[in-house]
Amino acid sequence: MNNCVLVSGNANLSLAKKIADYLNKPLATINISRFFDGEVSVQIEENIRGKDIFFIQPTSPPVNENLMELLVILDAIRRASPKRLTVVIPYYGYARQDRKDRPRVPITAKLVANLLVAAGAQRILAMDLHAPQIQGFFDIPVDHLFAAPVLTNYLKQKKLNNPVVVSPDVGSVKTARAFAKRLNATLAIVDKRRDGPASVEAVHLIGAVKGCDAVIVDDMISTGGTLAEAAKALKEHGASLVIAACTHGVFSGPSFDHLTQSQISEIIVTDTVFHQSPPAVPSLTVLSVSELLGEAIKRIHLETSVSSLFL
Ligand code: R5P
Repeated sequence: MNNCVLVSGNANLSLAKKIADYLNKPLATINISRFFDGEVSVQIEENIRGKDIFFIQPTSPPVNENLMELLVILDAIRRASPKRLTVVIPYYGYARQDRKDRPRVPITAKLVANLLVAAGAQRILAMDLHAPQIQGFFDIPVDHLFAAPVLTNYLKQKKLNNPVVVSPDVGSVKTARAFAKRLNATLAIVDKRRDGPASVEAVHLIGAVKGCDAVIVDDMISTGGTLAEAAKALKEHGASLVIAACTHGVFSGPSFDHLTQSQISEIIVTDTVFHQSPPAVPSLTVLSVSELLGEAIKRIHLETSVSSLFL
């Protein structure tokens, strides 16, 4: 791993340090500051010429600030002549804007992909993209990891009774099916309607949940509306217990109100999104994906299989 260099922006230094610990490598010294008018100023303070760079920066809130910092650091790295430049994006913000679902709207997930490549990204390592098809927005290699092994290993220890894995909308059915297989559980699906960013309604529940311990799985928790509605429907249909397991704990807007008023007994997320102070959300468990990302970085650098990490 001598020729491999880890660089981190400010978006999730805590995760980057854990990845560095796993790989037993220091993070490169980099000076990141802001000019008085808010512009990002960056200098990499060591020679990275000819190195295999892994630059870790999720585009989590504050999204635009972290995205701009990512682009500026990328430009600094590529101008320092590395051998290869992989951007590690544990959480890909703007991923939900991945299609024209109304007239005259942007496809911002594609715009962000274009910006990353224009700024110098040669390879992407991402985790639980909102839609796997986002990989196709890039014409460079994308390794797409899933947090499922980390989340299901934790869930297995809970010895759930009569477990059912629940997809809170049609978009998460494939993930839910994979969880159900790992947990030896049945599957249920909530038919969700969204009227606005914070307004969600569970219209139908497909599948049997009566007397079951239900695990809702999703890629992310934003306002918590999706989870709260799914939990309400599950309880109304007789689920004994409701747990949520989601990769990205964004926790924005009214998430505190939605989740404290919900009937969810435990909310499990990973550390892809950093919070200055722990989110004020009841019964929160945060699991680290640092070893999974660290192992993927090692395998990409050593050019061995990454897909075997999915098993
Ligand atoms: C939507 O398709 C996603 O998979 C999540 O269900 C959604 O983004 C969660 O958002 P919120 O927590 O605001 O309901």
